[in-house]
Amino acid sequence: QAKVFTYDPGFTSTASCDSTITFIDGNKGELLHRGYPIDQLAEKSHYLEVCYLLLYGELPSAKELEVFEQTITNHTMLHEQMVNFFRGFRRDAHPMAIMVGVVGAMSAFYHDSTDINDPRQREIASHRLIAKMPTIAAWAYKYSIGQPFVYPRNDLDYASNFLRMCFSVPAEEYEVNPILSRAMDRIFTLHADHEQNASTSTVRLASSSGANPFACIAAGIACLWGPAHGGANQACLEMLEEIGTVDRIPEFIDRAKDKNDPFRLMGFGHRVYKNFDPRATVMKQSADEVLELLGVEDNPKLQVAKELEKEALNDPYFAEKKLFPNVDFYSGIILEAMGFPTSMFTPIFALSRTVGWISQWKEQLDDPQLKIGRPRQLYMGETRRDYVEIENR
Ligand code: SDX
Repeated sequence: QAKVFTYDPGFTSTASCDSTITFIDGNKGELLHRGYPIDQLAEKSHYLEVCYLLLYGELPSAKELEVFEQTITNHTMLHEQMVNFFRGFRRDAHPMAIMVGVVGAMSAFYHDSTDINDPRQREIASHRLIAKMPTIAAWAYKYSIGQPFVYPRNDLDYASNFLRMCFSVPAEEYEVNPILSRAMDRIFTLHADHEQNASTSTVRLASSSGANPFACIAAGIACLWGPAHGGANQACLEMLEEIGTVDRIPEFIDRAKDKNDPFRLMGFGHRVYKNFDPRATVMKQSADEVLELLGVEDNPKLQVAKELEKEALNDPYFAEKKLFPNVDFYSGIILEAMGFPTSMFTPIFALSRTVGWISQWKEQLDDPQLKIGRPRQLYMGETRRDYVEIENR
């Protein structure tokens, strides 16, 4: 396979990298994980199988998948002392702040998987992070709403376990609806990896210094939080709420086109895709399915989103700039319908993307030529000059 740039990453060569994990063709709107198209994986596979594919490069046999899923299931609990970390936060702390803190703190609890020079420890760290992220995200949510933590169960699949840890309470067991669980799993799969996006590049840069895996993933979570990146799903739903009704859409489209207005259509546009983001297409289908199941197919935000997409795609400005809906445009509508507050949208993105971050982290560490990352700069500042005493300024 020729090593090609799908787009100019905008970095100097020291910040670019070779990879065999994910390929994006931005003009075609194609996303491949180890060569498999995302729409086929979303339809026919499931998140833990995609995790195996991203980590090891091939789809697993039935036995390999069984062993992998059992390994992940056996690591879903957190060290009990980590509960204290959650209690150190204010109740109104954003769950992403909690995730950055707790994941970073894992390096203080799991010493036997921090030696990045030991391939076995790298593998243990990978399994621990994939397994524990749903528990961390669910507990960050529970803490923010003042409800007791719900522990993972070994008899539930990955997505069902997460939904139950979020929505079960001691007074009433949460019955997992298999269609919602499938939709949750599909959301995990659609966010699993995405080549050298900002947060993945952050993880690679952090790991190039030899930092331990938990610290590197905490850095990725911090970067993903931004509204231009993973925070866009929360920002998109807040935008749809602000628009409110379809008759106000033209006003917001005009604002998005106004260079003097900082407003951007959240969930629209992409650094790479200059066509439909294939994940958005799957997400839109899933939104229809989930909202119909929940009997809220006439959800005003879904109506506004569909009309906004139609009007934007018919607008010459968006056509000329090649702006299309991205993965964040419909995901928030589904997550809100499932019962999640907007503050949980990016933590769910971070939970899903952990396997992508950790796969790229492992790939980079397997490169014997690895050097510490150091993007070159183009210096545009002052030329050399001598210090001026304060009385002469
Ligand atoms: C994610 O990199 C990844 O892979 C990220 C991600 C992943 O899986 O990791 O895909 C996840 O981050 C998706 C993107 C989520 N962010 C948003 O939805 C926020 C809204 N989108 C914009 O902020 C923007 O589209 C970016 C940040 C995503 C991309 O910005 P760029 O690099 O400026 O996009 P561009 O070069 O294609 O823009 C072309 C033009 C520019 O105007 P000009 O400078 O040519 O005059 O279109 C404008 C942009 O200002 N533009 C928009 C717009 N997005 C770009 N105008 C209005 N609304 C928008 N949403």
